[in-house]
Amino acid sequence: MDKFIIKGGNILDGKITISGSKNSALPILAGALLAEEGECVIDNIPDIRDIDIMLEVIRELGAEIEYDKNEHRVAINAKNINNYKAPYDLVRKMRASFLVMGPLLGRFRQAEVSLPGGCVLGARPVDLHMKGFQSLGAKTFEGEGYIKAKAENLTGSTVYFDRPSHTGTENIILAAALAEGKTRIINAACDPEVVDLVRFLNKMGAKISGAGSTLVEIEGVNKLTGVNYKAMPDRLVAGTYACAAAITGGEVLLETADEESLQMPLMKMRAMGIDITGGNGGIVVKGPERLKPVDITTFPFPGFPTDLQACFMSMCTIADGVSNIVETVFENRLSHAMELMRLGANIKVLGDRAVINGMEHLQGASVMASDIRAGAALVLAGLCAEGTTELLRVYHIDRGYEKIDEVLKNVGADITRVSD
Ligand code: EPU
Repeated sequence: MDKFIIKGGNILDGKITISGSKNSALPILAGALLAEEGECVIDNIPDIRDIDIMLEVIRELGAEIEYDKNEHRVAINAKNINNYKAPYDLVRKMRASFLVMGPLLGRFRQAEVSLPGGCVLGARPVDLHMKGFQSLGAKTFEGEGYIKAKAENLTGSTVYFDRPSHTGTENIILAAALAEGKTRIINAACDPEVVDLVRFLNKMGAKISGAGSTLVEIEGVNKLTGVNYKAMPDRLVAGTYACAAAITGGEVLLETADEESLQMPLMKMRAMGIDITGGNGGIVVKGPERLKPVDITTFPFPGFPTDLQACFMSMCTIADGVSNIVETVFENRLSHAMELMRLGANIKVLGDRAVINGMEHLQGASVMASDIRAGAALVLAGLCAEGTTELLRVYHIDRGYEKIDEVLKNVGADITRVSD
């Protein structure tokens, strides 16, 4: 298991090119299963562990895959899919593999996917996905750890989400693209990755409108075909590196970062005294002498993203005053607070709230990553802490960030990957 050794105190300076989006690439790769003929060639695929897992799932279903990691390009031929079952071994490694359920149901009218189960962020049920499939006429069965879905006829319908679910919205869109008639998703997730998926599907021949709003309408078509597509840049990776620049008081150009999808976190960064300049194909982030405190409540897009909450908490630990963070999207996404306290942070957690009393400095120590974003937040804390931070279980970070250590080293960080 790899770990990072981080010597804090270096000021970041330089340019980072933002990789393709994980949460966009994953549903797009699943969407390639819908192509009855032709090949889907997807560019800007990040070289991360979650992509490897999704490709294993898709290969298991019978698709032919060529993956050029250097070119960040995947070619998928899904003509000869001959298996409709995504097994536990793979789904347990990554919940997002549940995204193959929609395309399998849409194209073959049957699917069997292991129940993803709970995770470190909380229970994370898939009830909204299932209700959506049922609205389209699928019969669903649960047993022996699997969810099976079958549909004699998959028919357009109105799907109501009690709350916006990001992958839930994507799964229903993926199934409804080949259903008969019109589907409407009410209270759909508005995330930019949903919009990116819909752009890809429409290029394949789908008829979907309203993506990016709370009402998405899908007019089912008979057939979809392979296309070339480029996934959007990763807004969460861009947000993380923006925080890295700011927490060290450095100045970094985030090349290809998409400013539009980062409005809310950039607004909060400005409130913390961070200088943000957009335009020219990227964002320049310049940290102040001392960060100001900030109040944040996470919310589905366009609210403040839960995926950047941990990184902002790291910044708050050295801000000049008291910050308040409320996590409303996931029931258990404040675990990084305990690890930040090991680095000397002054944080009080009360249910879904954290009150962070900013210190002059953090102090290096041994800490552990528990999920992708909590891990990234601890890297940021290590960058600004005095002394040396040893960060264990970096495989969590490798699931979502392409070579984070090399990227940060290139802009001046003292971070070393050690393999045990
Ligand atoms: N929820 C339900 N029932 C459902 C689905 C969701 O109750 O059927 C609840 C969840 O338990 C959670 C809330 O609704 O409390 C929102 O969950 P959502 O379904 O939106 O999350 P997701 O689709 O499972 C995606 C991202 C996450 C990101 C969230 C929120 C992907 C592959 N994953 O998860 O990304 O945090 O949306 O924006 O797109 C990450 O990249 O590190 C990550 C965890």
